[in-house]
Amino acid sequence: MKKKLLITGGAGFIGSHVVRLFVNKYPDYSIFNLDALTYAGNLENLKDVDQAPNYTFVKGDITDETFINKLFEDQQFDGVIHLAAESHVDRSILDPLAFIKTNVLGTAILLNAARKIWKDNSEGKRFYHVSTDEVYGTLGEEGLFTEETAYDPRSPYSASKASSDHFVRAYYHTYHLPVVLSNCSNNYGSNHFPEKLIPLAIHNIKNNKPVPVYGKGENVRDWLFVEDHARAIDTIFHDGKTGETYNIGGFNEWKNIDLIHLLCKVMDEKLGREPGTSAQLITFVKDRAGHDLRYAIDATKLNKELGWAPSLQFEEGLEKTVDWYLANQEWLDHVTSGTYKQYYETQYEQR
Ligand code: NAD
Ligand code: DAU
Repeated sequence: MKKKLLITGGAGFIGSHVVRLFVNKYPDYSIFNLDALTYAGNLENLKDVDQAPNYTFVKGDITDETFINKLFEDQQFDGVIHLAAESHVDRSILDPLAFIKTNVLGTAILLNAARKIWKDNSEGKRFYHVSTDEVYGTLGEEGLFTEETAYDPRSPYSASKASSDHFVRAYYHTYHLPVVLSNCSNNYGSNHFPEKLIPLAIHNIKNNKPVPVYGKGENVRDWLFVEDHARAIDTIFHDGKTGETYNIGGFNEWKNIDLIHLLCKVMDEKLGREPGTSAQLITFVKDRAGHDLRYAIDATKLNKELGWAPSLQFEEGLEKTVDWYLANQEWLDHVTSGTYKQYYETQYEQR
């Protein structure tokens, strides 16, 4: 069946994996990648698919209402997979308004545009909102987040994502917009921007720079390989029930300090260093304000109802990730040197 899909944020970390999966797996679909190319958006992530006949890149901002309304009217999309967002918790502490603008207002503008073009016939249409487990707040030592866990966001980032989730559900109940949502745990893998823990640590270890661990490194995160998240999004987009929410996670909890020690061990092996060399770079630094203690997802619903399961163990995924970063120094250089913006603009002008 032919479909015209809009994927927002497709030049980012997770979005680029979703775009690649859909472009390759669904040659009959027409895939539009809408991205503002902020500091986090990188067209280099999509070098391998950007010439595909079913792929179109559109540079644009989801907070530009006039532009978004026109794009939806012109293209009459059958589906939207919405990933565009400001995604980094530390940046949200420095500049909360940027998160409210993109994550709340931007999402509402997309919802409104979809509502307008689908108001007479929403048969077969779908608005998929990609969200985070951080909306549920923080866990103590025990328990898991389920789809029924009450929202309790505690950072400007998670509050903005929680708000966007509420708007998505409000459009379902009020306007019968055919929505589906997912809330996923921490992703890792290739093309992850090196402001986030795992790619930052890989980059710093490689360059013999301190590896900053917030507080005592006791905080726990539940890690999922990004390609498994992309597969889950594919499954939910096609088979999820309208109006429903699905939690996505790998049942893979790690204390930050244990994860960093494992990463140091992998890096020592890969770089041919004496065991224990990289661990000497670990540096405990001031904690993140309002740092959530523990996230852990119960992904039973997704597994039981839609048959999705993670494809690999964390140790294997982490090794693959390290291998990717060591083999893609040029990507890292562009991203960390600041020249990458220029690259994107050149790419865009060539189109
Ligand atoms: P990212 O920061 O790597 O990418 C975000 C993308 O959105 C970038 O390409 C950026 O250019 C684009 N963007 C930002 N503002 C925009 C705007 N105003 N208009 C158009 N495009 C804009 O983020 P990510 O880690 O890939 O996360 C993608 C989505 O998944 C986000 O909604 C995030 O909340 C959610 N999520 C992330 C994780 C994770 O571990 N990274 C886990 C669960 C959910
Ligand atoms: O849980 C899903 C969320 O995971 C996503 O919604 C977010 O978009 C994504 O950024 C991620 O948020 P976290 O804050 O959990 O990820 P981050 O990589 O920033 O931090 C992971 C943990 O490591 C967290 O406990 C903070 C800690 N940390 C982070 C950095 C950057 C450090 O100890 N040192 C660091 O330098």
